[in-house]
Amino acid sequence: MRAESRAPAKVILAGEHFVVHGGKALAVSIDLWARATAESGREITLESDNPPGSCGPGGCAPHLRPLRAMLEELVADHPGAVGAYRLSSEIPEGRGLGSSAAAAVALAAAALALAEGTALREEVYEYAMISERLIHGNPSGVDPAVSAHGGAMLYSRSEGVRRIRVREGLLALCCGPSPRSTAAMVELVAGFKRSRPGLFDALLRSSSDLAEVGASALAEGNLLALASVIRWHQGALRILGVSSEELEAYVASMESAGMAAKLTGAGGGGCALGLPIGRAAEPKCSAPVVRWARYPSEGVTAWRLS
Ligand code: MEV
Repeated sequence: MRAESRAPAKVILAGEHFVVHGGKALAVSIDLWARATAESGREITLESDNPPGSCGPGGCAPHLRPLRAMLEELVADHPGAVGAYRLSSEIPEGRGLGSSAAAAVALAAAALALAEGTALREEVYEYAMISERLIHGNPSGVDPAVSAHGGAMLYSRSEGVRRIRVREGLLALCCGPSPRSTAAMVELVAGFKRSRPGLFDALLRSSSDLAEVGASALAEGNLLALASVIRWHQGALRILGVSSEELEAYVASMESAGMAAKLTGAGGGGCALGLPIGRAAEPKCSAPVVRWARYPSEGVTAWRLS
């Protein structure tokens, strides 16, 4: 028996970091994919092209251990999922695009499809969170929620996913050369909150209100209102200390090309996004990855082949 799956990357338009502390995040899935295959076997093995490495009876590459731990828990609940897994991904790793969540979502969906013939999004999400907790320590859950469900959503820890109907659009991405640690950036923001709790709470409340405003603007196609929400968040993320010289340069290039721009994800490096307003030109940032991404993409899909 074989199963295949694919799961999308995500970008956060408003509310990263605040979402870890109970705020709302506005996020969309984009057309960059992690893909997994599963084949029934006697033991769990995992081969990965990106990030490269393997797990087998003889050992497991450290960065793949959270995914193997997830597969072990899943196999304990669904014994038909035991087998050989392959993972490949076109999502740049550690750049704020949800690469680890998409990998976990793709693998969990392939495993559930192999064992049960179908993969329910909520169950896929719960298994992906096992790997995300091991990697990131205290994830809000927004990344696997977007990858599992796809589309556009407002997400918060207390309310989960609130879907938003949006028209298709394009976002520019400028992504830096080196991966960085989400856990380290989340810890940095926790330090900010400890040292300036009043300021942090005021920013968090405003961020959540503006994420709601951004969600309505996105649903209505009001890009000018969404642009203000994006720009406010870049300022707030700069205040939290998670922007960087590199990200500020990408943001400035996209702004001068007629876009509203901000860093996306944990920051400290990684990607900045640009929302074209009116007739925006190509982004001319000096980044190794400069591309357009289409949003929203569909969520995870998985299918079993006999
Ligand atoms: C990472 O994509 C988004 C963060 O808010 C972390 C999280 O929500 O778990 C920085």
